[in-house]
Amino acid sequence: MRSAVNHPSRQTIDDFINKNVDRPIANKVLHAHPSPMHWKTQFDRSRFDQALQNSAQRSASINFYIGIPFCLPTDPPHCGFCLFPTTAYQGKSAISQYLHYLAIEADLYKETYGQAKIASLYVGGGTPNLLATQHYDELIKIIQSLFPDMDRNIEKTLEGIPQLFSADKIKAIHESGFNRVSMGVQQLDDRLIQYSGRKQTSRQVFDAIEMFHQYGLSCNVDMIYGWPEQSIDSMLDGLRKISAAGVHHITHYELNIAGRSHFATKQRAILPSQEEKYEMYKVAKQFLQEEGFVQKTAYDWERRSASSRGNAKPWEYLYEQNLRQLFSSSEADSQCYMGGLGYAAVNIRLQPDGGKDSFSAMNQRNLAAYMKDLADHRKPIERVYFHTPEDVKLCWIFQALQELSVNMADYRAVFESEFLTEYALTVAGLLEKEWIVVRDDVLYLVGRGEFNVPLIQAIFAFQLSQEISKPEAVIPIAAIE
Ligand SMILES: C[S@@+](CC[C@H](N)C(=O)[O-])C[C@H]1O[C@@H](n2cnc3c(N)ncnc32)[C@H](O)[C@@H]1O
Ligand code: SF4
Repeated sequence: MRSAVNHPSRQTIDDFINKNVDRPIANKVLHAHPSPMHWKTQFDRSRFDQALQNSAQRSASINFYIGIPFCLPTDPPHCGFCLFPTTAYQGKSAISQYLHYLAIEADLYKETYGQAKIASLYVGGGTPNLLATQHYDELIKIIQSLFPDMDRNIEKTLEGIPQLFSADKIKAIHESGFNRVSMGVQQLDDRLIQYSGRKQTSRQVFDAIEMFHQYGLSCNVDMIYGWPEQSIDSMLDGLRKISAAGVHHITHYELNIAGRSHFATKQRAILPSQEEKYEMYKVAKQFLQEEGFVQKTAYDWERRSASSRGNAKPWEYLYEQNLRQLFSSSEADSQCYMGGLGYAAVNIRLQPDGGKDSFSAMNQRNLAAYMKDLADHRKPIERVYFHTPEDVKLCWIFQALQELSVNMADYRAVFESEFLTEYALTVAGLLEKEWIVVRDDVLYLVGRGEFNVPLIQAIFAFQLSQEISKPEAVIPIAAIE
């Protein structure tokens, strides 16, 4: 497949790097190309339904996401830093009503998932552990209505915040069949966490971890670095205690600063600089490696252990791992799709040859609009983007960069084209900066390159993003052939 994109000149690449290298990048976790702001609210519904149906006919395994919209109100709002779409918690009856609509939505997808196999389930949000004890069974039943042959051993994760993981909820989560939890701790320091307005203590964090161990639930802990007033010592203290508590998977995110969040508008003066954050990244990396953790992405760390229960390995995070392996070859049956139900959920289907069946779609981010669509028996899709073959290549490159390396032999096998030829100027620019090295057909991010993954992703996407940004963009003919 020939490249249809005019790649930027070396000068443009250097200017772009110099302009952005010292700025906090708004989104440190770029999973998709293009960014959802380019997905279209006006889209061809019949083309979308057809693409869904066509992808359903291919035998694929599905990573399934369910979105729960609700969060406890905080002061400042949205925990001060959060950029995810959420809705204020309105009590148990609002949750029951929401689950009722989720079941209606699942019904609309029965035909789509008739042949498919679910590979992993992730219930995220929002705050899924706001659900009451009786709701976890209901959630699993909704999934079983779509995948009646679901293997009970697949990874099934439920996300939540420490203060809501009570003993009776953990028991109900476990008994309904979830085998993994992901707990958003962010900060262990009881003073620093107060910037988020959360009523969270480190005691609650360790009590919850202790109970996860009792119930044999694998556990991931989300931590954030680059927090207001956070020092390297306080970051290390948090990581040390989480590691000592026997956690086998840590996501260590750099704080995203953007938009009108309280941190972005009121706390900027006390945020660490880019240079300080890079130092934090390096110190955390060294510490986690010494503790036996292996780096899977710029922010994912896993520590293998001797113990594992059935198929579930406490260190694994299959849902994310599968998503990063969008297609390891051009064989259809090695493809992995992302399916989603619920508020703000995303559906992604990527075909290596791009074209009409590759798309990304996002559900309504307004709860009333979500329920209204379902009351009218319409899939609650807010926006859709149909990918060109060049977009699909970039999606693949984005995922590879998350893992800090691009295997160019795999790229060749999937796309039948030469990565180094297509991206010669970009690669030359990154080599000169010493952000990458190339060895044995693999490009590795090194040094500051690891810290700058989103910036490197943006450089690879530079030309295509410019073309997409123009409302009157004419996609080159070769790209849609
Ligand atoms: C969508 S949240 C949901 C989990 C749960 N409600 C919580 O807050 O812990 C998932 C994770 O995204 C991360 N996150 C959210 N906003 C972020 C930001 N502005 N910068 C970095 N990480 C962020 C947090 O670590 C959080 O645990
Ligand atoms: S609880 Fe989690 S999802 Fe909700 S606003 Fe806070 S960080 Fe965001």
